[in-house]
Amino acid sequence: MGKIILTGDRPTGRLHIGHYVGSLRRRVELQNSGEYEKIFIMIADAQALTDNVDNPEKIRQNIIEVALDYLSCGLDPEKTNILIQSEISELTELTFYYMNMVTVSRLQRNPTVKSEIQMRNFEASIPVGFFCYPISQTADITAFKATTVPVGEDQLPMLEQAQEIVHKFNATYKEDVLVRPEALLPDNEVCSRLPGTDGKAKMSKSLGNCIYLSDPADVVKKKVMGMFTDPNHLRVEDPGSLEGNTVFTYLDAFCKPEHFEKFGDEHANLDEMKEHYQRGGLGDVKVKKFLINVLEDELAPIRERRAELQKDIPYVVDVLRKGTEVAREEAAKTLSEVKNAMRINYFEDEALLKSWQDKFEG
Ligand code: TRP
Repeated sequence: MGKIILTGDRPTGRLHIGHYVGSLRRRVELQNSGEYEKIFIMIADAQALTDNVDNPEKIRQNIIEVALDYLSCGLDPEKTNILIQSEISELTELTFYYMNMVTVSRLQRNPTVKSEIQMRNFEASIPVGFFCYPISQTADITAFKATTVPVGEDQLPMLEQAQEIVHKFNATYKEDVLVRPEALLPDNEVCSRLPGTDGKAKMSKSLGNCIYLSDPADVVKKKVMGMFTDPNHLRVEDPGSLEGNTVFTYLDAFCKPEHFEKFGDEHANLDEMKEHYQRGGLGDVKVKKFLINVLEDELAPIRERRAELQKDIPYVVDVLRKGTEVAREEAAKTLSEVKNAMRINYFEDEALLKSWQDKFEG
């Protein structure tokens, strides 16, 4: 059987360059590798609602933003199905049955759930739907028989939970209906957690430290010029430190060997530039200007494609509709197998009807 990918994002905001180096760029490579039989990328609106139930408009508006970000990064609807989660009611149904295979204490021990509960200050007022989202995520993965789930490290406990549910289901019903999924982690450490422009651990909308894929060039420039570097690197001739120096972290994530010649930089490669910075004599402004060129090399084509796509929103909506339709068929097939395995197929089972009759015969 061929390999199948499922992954996705909650549509709670536009996607930023942290998403790009952490997942989007990789998804496009995987898509173009030809190694995968089917690829499903989910806009997880139902999951986003688990902690935004009072603000559905935010989710509605961001569905189109995320779809535009996907397509402008190079996800190709000919090869990848982009789908909207809530349009596939089979996922909710699967979630309901899987709920019986997970204990409350197991969910409470899930480190991702734990830290997200903390982050949101839910304490005693955790919505049940939010608490159960690892189960819903298992439904997302298994509905499409995904073998491969490209995710960040923070999602590993989710994958473990999914593997447990798959194991429990198949063992309980003595059938190999569900496929055990494996995580596919980012292949490069810098890329798995890009810091915000302020040097804080994570790029996040609430911290206001993001560079968005849809930011215009002048905004990117301004954000880079204001970026956190080495606070002790006051004069150009001072030695600089690379430790926690966000500008160099971004260069690690984005810089390619050909950029030095392309942008007329005096250094032969990134190592040489780093050495120069550490030795002293290389100013922050110079490095930042180089970084702007490096970023623009990757962001400008994405921005141009986005501008084109924005002129034809009905096309984008059509992509979503078609991707969702294909996905729904897959999910319906799996749900029917699941219900058969669980023996909840009363009207389709002739033998059951017969056994009901026999039971009351003389
Ligand atoms: N939890 C993911 C996020 O926060 C989105 C998501 C929903 C997902 N269902 C998934 C990711 C299934 C991987 C597999 O962005």
